[in-house]
Amino acid sequence: MKIAIGADHGGFELKQQLLDLVETLGHQIVDVGCHSKESVDYPRFAEAVCEKIIESQADAGILVCGTGIGMAIAANRHKKIRAAICHDDYTARMSREHNNANVLCLGARVIGHGVAEEIVKIWLKTDFSGGRHQQRIAQFSD
Ligand code: RB5
Repeated sequence: MKIAIGADHGGFELKQQLLDLVETLGHQIVDVGCHSKESVDYPRFAEAVCEKIIESQADAGILVCGTGIGMAIAANRHKKIRAAICHDDYTARMSREHNNANVLCLGARVIGHGVAEEIVKIWLKTDFSGGRHQQRIAQFSD
């Protein structure tokens, strides 16, 4: 898959670590920044990742900020985007199986890098279950 990935300064270091992991797992990366620990505003990176997905230049996205919250709020303003904040293996799996999340939001100040890596591994390999979940998603999203 092609994965768009973005972060603000709070998520920069974790994003850098995830670039290697995502590539090692056999995916292509579109890194929209940021590219340093200098303070930046997260909405523009959420926007950049969502744009890639909406314009079919990426299949899914990963957004990292301090808590994951700002990124998720900003990303979920788009009708085609289903962004989920995941802080453990269970929410990572369920966000794919039940919610068909197409953007994973991580809080770099909430979880450790090891936990984040496990979440990303699970999230990228888990398929949507469809069925009754598709019917529910269709009520609010394309
Ligand atoms: C930046 O300090 C912080 O507010 C941001 O990374 C994020 O947690 C916002 O939701």
